[in-house]
Amino acid sequence: MRSVFLTGASRGLGAALFQTLQTDGARVLGLARTFTTEQQTLAAQRPTSVRLRPTDLSDPATLSDPAGVGPAGLPSGAELATFVGEAGPDDEIVLVHNAATVEPIALAGELPPAAVLAAVNLNLVAPILLTNLFLATFRDSPARVRIVYIASSAAHRAYPGWATYCATKAGAEAFVRCVSEAASRACQVDIIDPGAIETQMQQALRDRGTGMPGHARLVERHRVGDIGDPSTVAKSIVDRYFPPLAPAL
Ligand SMILES: NC(=O)c1ccc[n+]([C@@H]2O[C@H](COP(=O)([O-])OP(=O)(O)OC[C@H]3O[C@@H](n4cnc5c(N)ncnc54)[C@H](OP(=O)(O)O)[C@@H]3O)[C@@H](O)[C@H]2O)c1
Repeated sequence: MRSVFLTGASRGLGAALFQTLQTDGARVLGLARTFTTEQQTLAAQRPTSVRLRPTDLSDPATLSDPAGVGPAGLPSGAELATFVGEAGPDDEIVLVHNAATVEPIALAGELPPAAVLAAVNLNLVAPILLTNLFLATFRDSPARVRIVYIASSAAHRAYPGWATYCATKAGAEAFVRCVSEAASRACQVDIIDPGAIETQMQQALRDRGTGMPGHARLVERHRVGDIGDPSTVAKSIVDRYFPPLAPAL
């Protein structure tokens, strides 16, 4: 059995990954602030294999409640372990860091501090703390343990209008790269750049980035149909990175 913890499961690439993974037979626990009606129906029908966990990963109160004491705190290790249940060497447990925000869209000197703090929490602090919690929870599990980080080419380029996004995506990618070198237990790390995808994030950049360096190219790519469809991108990610489980050697 494959059990997947997926952040940002409610829309965009995350919703498409959620749909594709659960259709493929994985158990999926989605984290986000909201969920679609379809997701809620599915979770009610299949409570052991589909779970929705409301969490605001940009909220300092959430992130400083790693024991999951408050209703909106991070899930506790016990909650993660209960979702997975008994797992052996043929099973796989995966944490997918997908949630992120491109806000604030503004040039340095005009950045709203609260939006910067929320973005740093969601894009950088949450992946660090969730990785830490995940590896601690499954430290002694005989299952294969994996971390998948949804990256962005923005981490390696200068887009002045979304500098906080560039910086935080670069920071989180650096963190998971360190984890791939060594962690408290063996774990595989995959860093996946999905390319441009037609999501709310992409639309926000197009609609509100007018005049920002890099904006004209995004608008042109959209005009010529060069922006990926979330379902197609999710399917190619699942085909490549979530193949059918093979028995452990
Ligand atoms: N779109 C692109 O062109 C593109 C290109 C390269 C890389 N990426 C990467 O792909 C990933 C997904 O991006 P996307 O375009 O699908 O974004 P999106 O459409 O904006 O969706 C973001 C997801 O994150 C969740 N989220 C946002 N704020 C949250 C919070 N405070 N707490 C918990 N969850 C929160 C949202 O759910 P709620 O609002 O319900 O909380 C939503 O499910 C990101 O890591 C992004 O960096 C995207």
